[in-house]
Amino acid sequence: MGTVAPVSLVTGGNRGIGRETARQLAGLGHTVLLSARRPEDAERAVAELAPEVPGTLVPCRLDVTDAEDVRALARRVEEEFGRLDVLVNNAAVNYDTTRRAATVDLDEVRHTLETNLFGAWRTAQAFLPLLRRSSRPRVVNVSSESGSLASMSGGTPAYGVSKAALNALTRKLADELRADRILVNAVCPGWIATDMGGPGGDPVDEGAASVVWAATLPDSGPTGGFFRHGEPLAW
Ligand SMILES: NC(=O)c1ccc[n+]([C@@H]2O[C@H](COP(=O)([O-])OP(=O)(O)OC[C@H]3O[C@@H](n4cnc5c(N)ncnc54)[C@H](OP(=O)(O)O)[C@@H]3O)[C@@H](O)[C@H]2O)c1
Repeated sequence: MGTVAPVSLVTGGNRGIGRETARQLAGLGHTVLLSARRPEDAERAVAELAPEVPGTLVPCRLDVTDAEDVRALARRVEEEFGRLDVLVNNAAVNYDTTRRAATVDLDEVRHTLETNLFGAWRTAQAFLPLLRRSSRPRVVNVSSESGSLASMSGGTPAYGVSKAALNALTRKLADELRADRILVNAVCPGWIATDMGGPGGDPVDEGAASVVWAATLPDSGPTGGFFRHGEPLAW
C-alpha cells in the first residue's frame, strides 16, 4: 500500500460478512465507507469497529435498491475523495430455502433480484467513473455457490437465480472494464454463520477473508473469475 489510503465502499456493511469485510479492510489501513440502509446502523457499526482498526471508517446511508440513494452517495464520494478504489457489492436478501422454482411467487423473485442483482449493477454503474480514477480499481461481487450453474439443483429459486445472474454480470463487467484495468470478480464466502447463513457455518472472519482477497488483488491478479478462499469455483 502506498502513502495514500485506498478508499473502499462496502454495501450492507452493518452486519454479517459486510461488517467484517469493512473491519478487515480498515485493518489494512483502507478508508472504508461502511454503508447501510439505515444511517443509524452504519453509525453504530462504525462506533463499534473504529477503535479496533488503523484505517478510517465512514458511516454512509445506502439502500442499493434506491437509484437516487446510489447517485447521492457517488456524488458525496466524488466530493470527499475524488475516486473509489474498491467496491464490494455485498448487500443481499432472501436465502429462500423453503421455496421451489415450480411454485414461488414471482413478485418475491423480482424483489430478490432488485437487491441481489440490480442493486449491485446500479451501484457498479454509478461508481464506475470514480473507479476509473483509481490507480488500482477492484470490484467484488459477493456471490454464492448457490449461483453456480455447474452444481445447480432445485430449491432456493430466487436466491440461486439472483446469484447466477450476478455471476453473469461479473463476467460482462470484467470483460468490458478490462481496458480500464478494473478487476471484477465474484466471490463465494462459503457457508458462514450470519443472520443469513444461520448457525453451524464457518466464522464470519473466514467468509470476509475471501472477499478481502479479491478486494486487494495485485495488478497481475485475475478478472472475471469466481473464487472461494482465493481458489477458482466452477461457474
Ligand atoms: N452467510 C452465508 O452463508 C453466505 C453464503 C454465500 C453467500 N453469502 C453472501 O454474502 C453476502 C453477505 O451475507 P450475510 O450472510 O452477511 O447476510 P446478512 O447477515 O443477512 O446481511 C445482509 C446485509 O445486506 C444488507 N442489505 C439487504 N438489503 C439491502 C439493500 N437494499 N441495501 C443495502 N443493504 C442491504 C443488510 O442490511 P439490513 O441490516 O438493513 O437488512 C445486511 O447488512 C450476501 O451477498 C450473501 O448472499 C452468504
